[in-house]
Amino acid sequence: MQVIASIFDMQSTAEDLRSKDRLIGLVPTMGALHEGHLSLIRLAKERADTVIVSIFVNPTQFGANEDFASYHRDLPRDVELCEKAGADLVFAPTAEEIYPKGYSTYVTEESISKTLCGISRPSHFRGVTTIVAKLFNIIRPDLAVFGQKDAQQGAVIKKMVNDLHFCVDIVVAPTVREPDGLAMSSRNRNLTATQRTEALAIFQALHKAKEMVDGGVYNADRLIAEATHHMGERRRVRVIYTSIVDRGTMEAVREVLPGKAMMAIAAWVDEVRLIDNILL
Ligand code: PAJ
Repeated sequence: MQVIASIFDMQSTAEDLRSKDRLIGLVPTMGALHEGHLSLIRLAKERADTVIVSIFVNPTQFGANEDFASYHRDLPRDVELCEKAGADLVFAPTAEEIYPKGYSTYVTEESISKTLCGISRPSHFRGVTTIVAKLFNIIRPDLAVFGQKDAQQGAVIKKMVNDLHFCVDIVVAPTVREPDGLAMSSRNRNLTATQRTEALAIFQALHKAKEMVDGGVYNADRLIAEATHHMGERRRVRVIYTSIVDRGTMEAVREVLPGKAMMAIAAWVDEVRLIDNILL
């Protein structure tokens, strides 16, 4: 498996693939790979000839007091997992090359990125759109796969692609969950056994809301009240937000229009910040 670190090498390799009419699929990640990431690689492989996985813990999307320094890094393990999942190439650039000294250009989406996680993490999506725009410029993929787990991120990227005329198809893949329902996340590895048990309340709250909608309850307030009540019973869980939003704009809705809305939750489980969502 080829692992490329330099931007120039990545550009010329991608250029070479394009000249051979290979359809390029990109799966951007920050490493610490799990089954959720691998499902994106497999989906990319179904739709593209060559799958490139980028692995880069992007400093600009972490706030000052967030877990950038402690974010799990294990490139050899990740490369092996990429290969097993069918990826053709890993792009793992250095922070020094992506953001050299004096770096000063950022991409900002100014609507969808303001709600939900944008409130508690005000510079997060600016970091995401900047790195994803860079990856799109360096690799010029035909398609890029993102996970529904980070639904707001997917919506922000779709908007950026549309607003800035990137020639790339954005594919959103379903959330991969543990057998009990907990959404897979690189941050789950930071949970103790007790925290892991309590974290499940997030999925249970989402699941409960979905059941209520299926039973004919469409009032957002009622659904949110029920979900927050459920999580409130867990001592270690502190809810950052529970919202019902339009899937495209991420704006809060009062009534669920089935097929158009989703419930999104962000919560601290002690010091671990988790997010999850469910389509309603
Ligand atoms: P990361 O958290 O590593 O996630 C990489 C991709 O995997 C994202 O598209 C995310 O939505 C997806 N993913 C994570 N957990 C998933 C799950 N349980 N099921 C399905 N997909 C899942 O998201 C990022 O990295 C970064 O913000 C990035 C886009 C790479 C920019 O730095």
